Amino acid sequence: MVLEAIRKRRTIREFTDEEVHESLIAKIIDAAIWAPNHRNTEPWRFIVLNKNGEMRKKVAKIVHDWAYENIKNPSSEKRSAGAHDAQQEILDSPAFIYVYSVQGRDEEMTRENYSATSCAIQNLMLAAHSLGLGVGWSTGKPCLANVDTAVGAEPEWDIVGALYIGYPTNLDAANQSAKRTQVDQVTIWA
Ligand SMILES: Cc1cc2nc3c(=O)[nH]c(=O)nc-3n(C[C@H](O)[C@H](O)[C@H](O)COP(=O)(O)O)c2cc1C
Repeated sequence: MVLEAIRKRRTIREFTDEEVHESLIAKIIDAAIWAPNHRNTEPWRFIVLNKNGEMRKKVAKIVHDWAYENIKNPSSEKRSAGAHDAQQEILDSPAFIYVYSVQGRDEEMTRENYSATSCAIQNLMLAAHSLGLGVGWSTGKPCLANVDTAVGAEPEWDIVGALYIGYPTNLDAANQSAKRTQVDQVTIWA
């Protein structure tokens, strides 16, 4: 079952309009928090932005403005379209979660915390997959735009990802194009 979920989970960014019930969001966050974490720091923090909520709208606008300024295209029309798409994707996503990792006592602990939070996101994605949901983990525009204050994150937290979540329109198609390098090409058997 776990192997099957690992193999069939895909990054999903296209969703049906079906609502993701809050109890399911709680369930996948509960799976996330069972990730391994060195020294039991439990470094993950989740910020769930309600669909149609004020915070979601505010963040979408911040990302829009950031994208307009930062998309590397000389045409203002293209930048405008890209910024609009980024904003709309955030507004449309059935569920949307920011994941942060807290700082450790020193650089080593901060790095461990970040690793543990990444494990938590993978747990969340596998749990979501097992419930028929898809997740798109982004470190792009929604993370590069400075949303920390708007979402109530502490200034010293590290942003680990923005997660678009919903019911996939076509998981099978995503799986058909998925590929990986063979084990022997990425492994040293010593
Ligand atoms: C740390 C991390 C950051 C990612 N950021 C982005 C992103 O900004 N935009 C995006 O389209 N996909 C992003 N992805 C998804 C990857 O592109 C995706 O995992 C990869 O293409 C493999 O596809 P799969 O997840 O379906 O196996 C990210 C994945 C990880 C682990």
